[in-house]
Amino acid sequence: MIVPSFLTLGLLATAAVAAADPRTCNRNDAKLPLLDAKNFKLTYSANTHTTKLSKHFKTVSMTQVLTNANRQLVKKAPKTGNGKPVESWGWNDGDDDTKKYYPQGISSSGDALGNGKYEGHSVWAVSWYQKEAAANEKKKARISFIDRSTHKYRHVLLVEPSADDDFKEVSVHAGGIMWYGDALYVVDTDNGLRVFNVSSMWAVGAGDRVGKDPKTGKYSANNYAYVLPQMWKFDWKSKQPDSPFRHSWVSLDRSTTPDSLIIGEYQETDVKTPIRVIRYPLDYTTRKLATTANVATATWASCINILKMQGGMSWKGKFYFARSASPAADLWSWIPGNAAKLAKGWFPAGAEDLSYHEARGEWYTLTEYAGDRRIVAYKGMTK
Ligand SMILES: *[C@@H]1O[C@H](CO)[C@@H](O)[C@H](O)[C@H]1NC(C)=O
Repeated sequence: MIVPSFLTLGLLATAAVAAADPRTCNRNDAKLPLLDAKNFKLTYSANTHTTKLSKHFKTVSMTQVLTNANRQLVKKAPKTGNGKPVESWGWNDGDDDTKKYYPQGISSSGDALGNGKYEGHSVWAVSWYQKEAAANEKKKARISFIDRSTHKYRHVLLVEPSADDDFKEVSVHAGGIMWYGDALYVVDTDNGLRVFNVSSMWAVGAGDRVGKDPKTGKYSANNYAYVLPQMWKFDWKSKQPDSPFRHSWVSLDRSTTPDSLIIGEYQETDVKTPIRVIRYPLDYTTRKLATTANVATATWASCINILKMQGGMSWKGKFYFARSASPAADLWSWIPGNAAKLAKGWFPAGAEDLSYHEARGEWYTLTEYAGDRRIVAYKGMTK
């Protein structure tokens, strides 16, 4: 007698707690409820070491990184997908084939600045996470900066200042990126966003170690010549410790006033887990999310019933999502209040993050599978 009633109470208590969280939703609800956006918050903090640590390095500009680009994209049609890209590019063989790093996020100088150029260059930025690591190796993440006039590129390692005289690797999945002025936003799945300063890249010496060698006092970054240091983070857990949100991908929307970014959740199959997309306003004067007392509050949030969303973007009230599927990835488009529309097999297999370039009227994704990696550009879907 005692045991069953205890169980019943336990279940009721669990249900009451779940229902009390205003951020969760039942994604099978046909109405796909809008959520109360003010319950989604990210807490800003600046890295306290970045400024002091910067004095140890020579700063390198985007122009220098692109001038010293040491790899070359090659024109390569996608193998799958019924969408018609206006451009399609592959990496050099090593980067196409490697199973150590996987490309995930894409953004461009069209996100960075409204005129579409950064230091006068038309640039793609692509994030990669490290999938395979040796026993004692910490996983890293890197960004490729690609010059769209030469199609040359160079990888730059993401680092987090860990002391006034040291830095460490950034062990995140980097599933989506968004470049805004000199701020490069990178998703950190469970934790929120990390932001890196593209106007403050540093040159380091050769060497396997990431950080300062205590014997010589010299800095290296796993033999990457340049590092891109973290300056801020926007943390999810400090305000919502018991309410998980997966920051799987991110993109910029310049069609809203003010500019905004949207963040979405990737969910594989678990039918109980909500899938949400949320929007935060940006402050173009500081390049930060708009904050009050260091807290950014979402202005729009919705539950969405689309599994395996690898990337998304919005423009003039319409949303676009890339969903992984086989043999090619799907494109979903959605105007809130209406049913989402499926363009099956639109993208090449392995499509990830999405990014819009207003000045060129183009939008981009990339594909992640080893031996079949592309960067593709499309026009004309955002009307
Ligand atoms: C990035 O670094 C540069 C050079 O140190 C600095 O002038 C700029 O203010 C930084 N950007 C932001 C958004 O803080």
